[in-house]
Amino acid sequence: MMTAPLPIHTPELFAAAMTRAVDLLRAGEVVALPTETVYGLAANACNAEAVAKIYTLKGRPAHNPIIVHVADETLARQCVTHWPESAAQLARSFWPGPLTLVLPRSPLIPDLVTAGGPTVGIRWPNHPFMQAVIRACGFPLAAPSANLANALSPTTASHVQKQLGSVLPLIVDGGPAQVGIESTVLDLTTHPPRVLRPGMIPEESWQAVLASVTLRPPAASDQAVASTELRSPGLLRKHYAPRAKLRLLAWGDDGDLTRQLASAGPTASRIHLITRARTPRLTTNVVVSVLPSDPVAFAREIYAELHRCDEAGAQLIVVEALPDLPAWRPLQDRLNRAAAD
Ligand code: TXA
Ligand code: MG
Repeated sequence: MMTAPLPIHTPELFAAAMTRAVDLLRAGEVVALPTETVYGLAANACNAEAVAKIYTLKGRPAHNPIIVHVADETLARQCVTHWPESAAQLARSFWPGPLTLVLPRSPLIPDLVTAGGPTVGIRWPNHPFMQAVIRACGFPLAAPSANLANALSPTTASHVQKQLGSVLPLIVDGGPAQVGIESTVLDLTTHPPRVLRPGMIPEESWQAVLASVTLRPPAASDQAVASTELRSPGLLRKHYAPRAKLRLLAWGDDGDLTRQLASAGPTASRIHLITRARTPRLTTNVVVSVLPSDPVAFAREIYAELHRCDEAGAQLIVVEALPDLPAWRPLQDRLNRAAAD
């Protein structure tokens, strides 16, 4: 049986999907829900048995902690033992939105959510359905991206259905994700705070907020233990990858591009090329798609484009090298990991 995504584009459909999602979450089940970054695989964050199902469904390694989603600051503060001024200011500036704050976790959050670690990642997502579900449940939702471990994150309900449709009781279709890549993860338990995963909130924006508060070293009792352990598996070199091999490539004129593609090796017959804003004329047989040259619009479309390449049976995806500018850094980060061997 394949679960068909439930639409929510009328008030009646929204309400019906809400009832279904809340009933399942209260019963300790796992459901796929839309957020503004990527689709999430959600369960009651306070229910260890429910969270265990997320790990099983995704094939996620037990050492990878899961982000906890809230829909107001009060619930966020219940998940942590300490809410520093930096968290308050960042939340005021960027929540609801694509920012995850790592803080010392409270006893409300089971070991399984944090992979046994002393910290928890908290985010208030900016999607009306996700927010309504969290408020109706009254408990926070643990939710990783709704893909199998190491596969590409889903930015549409149909991406979720293709990977997990046969094992999920509910997939809610909230439309294409508005941001398109995963949230910025900021660790506020280190001094100074550090970014564990760059996202679409410009670095200078959260830096400016941090610069406006007095940062205190965390209390010894709150300090994350032994930083030799793997702090954030999102930092793994190979991650966020399509099935096809992926390469980033810079070229001069169309002739140069044709030569470089021709030397791409035995996979040269199934190459998909993703460029920005310019359509090259090629003499080799390559499927070309053109994405926007603006990083925010590019982010919204890149994962869907990579999903399409996989579905079309691409063996090699060649992505035009990105500009070396701050606004492109989170995209560079994802594509570098996708390209890693
Ligand atoms: O945009 C997002 O963050 C999406 C949507 C669904 O909210 N979620 C998401 O979750 O991308 P996931 O599990 O695919 O990635 C979470 C990342 C991982 O790299 C994980 O290691 C890191 O956040 N993370 C979560 N909790 C952490 C913690 N306590 N300490 C350090 N890293 C943490
Ligand atoms: Mg993920």
